[in-house]
Amino acid sequence: MSDRPVARYILICSGKGGVGKTTLTANLGIALAKQGQRTAVLDADFGLRNLDLLLGLENRIVYTAQEVLAGSCRLEQALVKHKQEPNLALLPAGNPRMLEWLKPDDMKRIAAMLGESFDIVLIDCPAGIEDGFKNAVAAAQEAIVITTPEVSAVRDADRVIGLLNTEGIKPIQLVLNRVRPKMMANQEMLAVDDVTDILALPLLGLVLEDEQVIVSTNRGEPLTLNGSNSPAAQAYTNVAKRLCGEEVPLIDPAKARKGLRAKLGRLMQTKIF
Ligand SMILES: Nc1ncnc2c1ncn2[C@@H]1O[C@H](COP(=O)(O)OP(=O)(O)OP(=O)(O)O)[C@@H](O)[C@H]1O
Ligand SMILES: [Mg+2]
Repeated sequence: MSDRPVARYILICSGKGGVGKTTLTANLGIALAKQGQRTAVLDADFGLRNLDLLLGLENRIVYTAQEVLAGSCRLEQALVKHKQEPNLALLPAGNPRMLEWLKPDDMKRIAAMLGESFDIVLIDCPAGIEDGFKNAVAAAQEAIVITTPEVSAVRDADRVIGLLNTEGIKPIQLVLNRVRPKMMANQEMLAVDDVTDILALPLLGLVLEDEQVIVSTNRGEPLTLNGSNSPAAQAYTNVAKRLCGEEVPLIDPAKARKGLRAKLGRLMQTKIF
């Protein structure tokens, strides 16, 4: 028997669309790879695949999960290795028509194959709670639920957490994304405690609203790739460290705001404006 540790299969899901699942999967994948974890990212969003774009790997896809499942290529042929971070590989989603026949057992099979060669398998889940979600859950053992501090996103996250519990997924941890300290301080946005109280999940990370995320998304270069020290890059790296058991304190949005104010004060004094 091999003494290699068993792979971890981690679903990244939200219920609501557009809250940052794929961005988290790409950045976390790179950050984990940088920490020496052999990491596979599995695009389970067969309807609207995007993970390849965010990782800048869209031009290097030859085969996908579809051909692997059909037995027309080997897993190694379909995996797209990241050139700068060879510890990271993407298994691209196949044609959206796969949704017509894909079953939870197919996803289990793919995940088990990935688990043979990787320490961590991150699964980028589609939005919603229909078949695409059920298939993705079948491949997972743990989950990260990501939400923004908006009432509708939190309500959807709550529904998803119920379904994950029913499926025996454990642990389930929370990432709160697009946090705006000023809006929170002005009570224009749900506070961190409000969200954690409602969802009753341990907080794995807090990601500030950061326009560098949008720039990096458009470039196909995750922020964690090139040592950016933007707030979101630090947050993604910290999520990776916490996932690997390191104790890293969470940022306090109120302090983040004070930090920004202090920086503004310094810039004013040096008459940069
Ligand atoms: N912390 C952030 N700051 C600013 N923009 C962000 C942040 N996180 C995500 N975004 C932006 O939000 C948009 C949606 O992100 P993403 O595609 O990761 O969401 P998703 O949950 O995967 O969406 P879908 O449900 O459609 O798959 C993107 O334009 C992304 O750049
Ligand atoms: Mg997505």
